[in-house]
Parts: sequence; structure tokens; C-alpha cells
Amino acid sequence: MNGSGVKITGVGHYAPEKVITNADLEKILDTSDEWITTRTGMKRRHVAGIDEATSDLALVAARAALDDAGVDPHDIDCFIVATVTPDFPFPATACIVASKLGAENKAAFDIEIACSGFIYGLTVAASLVRSGVYKRILLIGAETLTKIVNRKDRATAILFGDGAGAVVLEASAQDSFLSSELGSDGSKPELLRVAAGGSRYALDPLRYDAGEQYIYMEGREVFKFAVTKMIDATERALEKARLTHADLDLLIPHQANKRIIDAAAKYLEMPSDKVLVNIHEYGNTSAASIPIALSEAVRSGRVKNGDVIVFVGFGGGLSWGAVTWKWAA
Ligand code: UT7
Repeated sequence: MNGSGVKITGVGHYAPEKVITNADLEKILDTSDEWITTRTGMKRRHVAGIDEATSDLALVAARAALDDAGVDPHDIDCFIVATVTPDFPFPATACIVASKLGAENKAAFDIEIACSGFIYGLTVAASLVRSGVYKRILLIGAETLTKIVNRKDRATAILFGDGAGAVVLEASAQDSFLSSELGSDGSKPELLRVAAGGSRYALDPLRYDAGEQYIYMEGREVFKFAVTKMIDATERALEKARLTHADLDLLIPHQANKRIIDAAAKYLEMPSDKVLVNIHEYGNTSAASIPIALSEAVRSGRVKNGDVIVFVGFGGGLSWGAVTWKWAA
């Protein structure tokens, strides 16, 4: 197997048409536009319909990315979907997406590491290409989190939205991948999880009545962890790439809370025009948030050839990660 460089040759994203605004939430929960805006930066989130599953969103984003790259689905060697809201507990959503794209008999698997999913996925996909195992990979971050949110819990119901972002990675003489820093701490899964429905706690009637099929989060604890890990992972990824903050053209962070992003950016001395924020439009879309933001940035011309980008995320696990990437047009 011959190693090579890797670059992203196509991006795409999709969010369902239906939107829930802060004003809509004010009508059904004890909350306010003012509270949500100042505490999170969120204004709107897109919501999948009852018949729309994660693979449906993933498919639209995937087609856009393939089109952007000018690559036929049959020429993709491996399909990866990062998600915590798969169509089914199994089979993997990536298998469904590959088949819907008409690509038969190709490698396909999911990555389930919550909001860090795209960062882990990018590390795995880039490594598979750079080591020569595959020439072309389609990596998608896709979520329908509104399906696992307790609409009566104001602490979480306001936060999450649905969407998908996709990238095509291809072998290349240039190498965009500069470094990766990944981490996890599974000692306190209860800080952020869906408790029931796995092998630890069956979704029996008691747990169902207690709402344990929904996302539960200790917001304040996760907030503190998030700021620390965003900073730490970014610094370590830059260090591994032998770069500093000053070399960074763009920070593309997971969109969980504008205050988390601002606190990390301030510490990292990143001016706001170098930090990508679209949380007002989508809310927190977990594994989809970074590829959606990247796709928007590329399509609006905000990403330039040679730009050094850090993608950084954190989430359930707890987990975190950052990838340093030199954009090649
Ligand atoms: O991507 C996955 C990772 N997730 C995250 O990174 C999220 C991290 N955490 C956060 O973003 C924030 O902790 C939240 C946005 C979830 C909450 O913001 P906070 O500033 O940490 O608020 P808090 O939990 O400390 O609550 C402050 C107050 C409480 O009332 P009391 O106890 O002070 O009377 C809450 O009951 O705000 C209340 N509150 C609300 N009020 C109006 C909580 N949710 C709401 C709400 N509307 N939706």
C-alpha cells in the first residue's frame, strides 16, 4: 500500500426546511428568547419531519458534496457516518446511505462518539487515505437530535437541532492533514447521555415513564469541561503540527454554545472574524455542526487556498478532539 496526502475535494450540507424559533419555544416552555439568546446564542434550529430519518438528511448532504467534488458515488471506496441518532440501533446508517447512493459492496460504517464524531471521523478517514488503504472516502456528520430530546425539558429542548454535513476526501499529492489530538474520559457517562435503551438499562416501562429514552445533560459541568478541552485540544493539535495560534486562519468549533466558543476563542487570542459561528441558525447539531459550518464557509468563499484551519469539538463520552488542516483548493 502506498501512502499519499489527503485533501477535501467536495463539501455539502443540508438542514430540514421546518424551523423552530425561540418565539416558538416560548409558547410551549417556561423560557424566553432573551434567556436562550444570551445563554446560548441560538435563535433557530431546523427540525426533521416525522418521516425524515438521519440517512435522509445524510443523503442530501452527501449528494451535494459528491457533486461539489465531481465524484461519482461508485468511485467512493468507503462511507462513514458520524452520528448518535442512527436510523436504527443497527445496521449502520452508513450502509443505508451507500446503498441509497447506488454504491454497492463498498465499506461503510458509523462512528458513535457524539458531538466529537466529525473530528474522530476526519482523523480516521484521513488516516485511511494517507496510508493508502482507500483513495476516496465520503465522511458525513448527520443527526436528528430533536427525535431524542425531551420536549418538556427546557434545559435541553432549546439546544438541539437536526442537519447533516458531508465531505469527500481524496488522495492527493498535497497533504491537508497536519495533526490530530483526540481524547476521552468515560468515568462519568451520566453527565451527558441517553440512559436507557442500551445493554446497561433496558427501556422498560419504568425508565420510559422517567424519560430515560431522552438526552440528559448536566449543563454546567459540561460547559466547564467544554471550554477547557476546546482550548487544550486546539493547543495540542497546533503543537503537533508545529504551529501556533498566530498561524491559524480559521477556527471551526463545534456549535454547542456561543459562550463556550467565545471563551475558548478569547483564550486562544482568535479575533471573531477568524472563528466560525452559525449557532444562531442551527442550534447544536452534534456531529453535523462542524461539517455544516465548513460547507457554508467553503461555499461562501470564506476558506482560501492554503488556509490553516483547526476543527475542534467535544461532547458525550466525555470526548474531545481537534484536527489541524491546511486547506487545498
Ligand atoms: O454538544 C454537547 C455538549 N453540550 C454542551 O456543551 C452544552 C454545555 N452547557 C451549556 O451550554 C449551558 O450549561 C446551558 C445552555 C445548557 C445552560 O446555561 P447555564 O448558563 O449553564 O444555565 P444553568 O444550567 O446554570 O441554569 C441557570 C438558570 C437555572 O435557574 P436557577 O436555578 O438559577 O433559578 C435554570 O433552571 O436558568 C434556568 N434555565 C432556564 N431558564 C429559561 C435552564 N434552562 C432554561 C431555559 N429557559 N431554557
